[in-house]
Amino acid sequence: VKNIAVLTSGGDAPGMNAAIRAVVRTGIYHKLNVFGVMYGYRGMIQDDIVPMDSKSVANIIQRGGTILKTARSKEFFTPEGRKKAYENLKKRGVDGLVVIGGDGSFKGAHVFSQEFGIPCIGLPGTIDKDISGTDFTIGFDTAANTAISAIDKIRDTADAHDRLFIVEVMGRDAGYIALYSGLATGAEHIMVPERPSDIENIVAALQDNERRKKLVNIIVVAEGCPHGSATEMAEVVRREIPSFDTRVCILGHIQRGGSPSCMDRIIASRLGYAAVKALLEGKYQSHMAGVINNEVRYTPFEQAIKTTEQIGEEWFGLYRILAS
Ligand code: F6P
Repeated sequence: VKNIAVLTSGGDAPGMNAAIRAVVRTGIYHKLNVFGVMYGYRGMIQDDIVPMDSKSVANIIQRGGTILKTARSKEFFTPEGRKKAYENLKKRGVDGLVVIGGDGSFKGAHVFSQEFGIPCIGLPGTIDKDISGTDFTIGFDTAANTAISAIDKIRDTADAHDRLFIVEVMGRDAGYIALYSGLATGAEHIMVPERPSDIENIVAALQDNERRKKLVNIIVVAEGCPHGSATEMAEVVRREIPSFDTRVCILGHIQRGGSPSCMDRIIASRLGYAAVKALLEGKYQSHMAGVINNEVRYTPFEQAIKTTEQIGEEWFGLYRILAS
């Protein structure tokens, strides 16, 4: 490889900048030309591609968002779109691509790499932690910490008023932000899409808490819960236990921003380096670099996008005992 390109795609995640910096600096160290593709696949199609140097990634390791911007491109999912994108890479002699994003971005990278034979390495950049082949995704730790500090604040006001709060966190179809932030803040109940929530049981447990004069309760609900959003859950609680003073708080996009945590900066740096190393060694075309048991591992895109991981019962047993 002589010329590589890097892009961020899909929802941004804290730590993406640290990953871009690692890719650019590792590439330059190995005397590669490095290009930054603006706005993900959309910029690849529209020829929005800029040369990167060491200075262009200075002072970004601590910044949230992505200096390369991001987008979700429908056109890249058409053969015509991908052809245009390929032509734009070809005219610069790009012979290796690093895609920082989530499952949608990896699907695109996989097809692209198969079609045009361009080696593509993915880095898991999403707050949702919904990717296989890595213990953590870049951005998850920061987002979970943001949710934790928000829920801690909510508990202060809940405590002052003896209130029940239902807090909705992000995660699309995954419940990890809810699980981690709920466990770390001592939430009385956690609802995730991966497991059916027994609403009747939750209501019964809340009624029991009321009898025990435990009036401050927090329920953390993952946005993707098929058994009810935070607002729907609040309706149930208001109907079944009208004596509770119930409030809803939807944390939303604040979970996507902010300075990345130590952990996100470290995995982003390790994986950015690992992506360029794989391209230099001509290995792992169409793979994602992840961290498993604190070691860098490469997983084919098809496997990385299959979220086979389940949230085990022991997690739920644990928080129920600790919150009782
Ligand atoms: O995938 C990251 C994520 O923040 C999800 O948790 C959420 O469902 C989605 O993106 C929100 O997307 P948008 O920013 O396009 O509203």
